[in-house]
Order: sequence, then structure tokens, then C-alpha cells
Amino acid sequence: MGFESVEKMVMSEMRKVYSEKAIEHAMNPRNVGRIKDANGAARITGSCGDTMEMSLKVKNGEIVEAKFWTDGCGSSIACGSITTELVKGKRIPEALKIDSKRLIEVLDGLPEADIHCSVLTSNTLQAAIKDYMNHAK
Ligand code: FES
Repeated sequence: MGFESVEKMVMSEMRKVYSEKAIEHAMNPRNVGRIKDANGAARITGSCGDTMEMSLKVKNGEIVEAKFWTDGCGSSIACGSITTELVKGKRIPEALKIDSKRLIEVLDGLPEADIHCSVLTSNTLQAAIKDYMNHAK
């Protein structure tokens, strides 16, 4: 079997489990890395042993930049990517409302076994926001 047909087979297997949107974000993640002059950041290792990092740049109560990094699975990459897109331009009270349920909704669903990946991501976001709030006091 040639590389292309193997790739097609893998993709069609993935599409049975993951939404098009989740696959797209896992394969082309946005905003990967760390913001050098972040004023809110967090790093959490989940029960699966994977780590998620989130850094935020907040100006006048609005998140103007967000980046993530993870050594976790494809779902955690998709969740990190969508989270950075969702929080950009949001004010702190709005960003605090972004929970794992919201991430799953925006990704058009995640398999049951990967829900903890979205929880790890939203917990990291919340911790990064709280870190900002502690320093802003
Ligand atoms: Fe660990 Fe998804 S399995 S973050």
C-alpha cells in the first residue's frame, strides 16, 4: 500500500471518532508556544501524565494574546488550539466561563475517552487567568 492510501485509511478511521474540526485543530494547531512577556501563565499535568501549559497576555482586562503547549494527545492539542482562539479578545469574566463543556461544543464533540483532555485544558486556562488576577491585585 502506498503512503497516500495509508494516509487516507488513517484519516477515514479518525473521522469515525473525531469531528472534522477537532482533526483540523489537532493537525494545524494555532498559537503553539509560550508568550515571553505573559502576565498570566499556568502549567498542569493531568491524571493521564500529560502536561498542558497556557500563557496569556492581558491588557486593560482583555486577553490580547494566548498561547499553549502540550506534550499530550491529539485531543489536547485540538483543545489547546481552540482555547487560544476562543479567549482572544475576551474580557476576564467572559474567559472565566470557558469550561470543558464549551471546548467540546466548539470542537463539535470529543469521544468520551478524551473528555479529560478538555478538562485538563480548561483547568489550565482557568489557572492562567487566576495567575493573572493574583498579579493584577
Ligand atoms: Fe492526556 Fe489527552 S490523553 S491529554
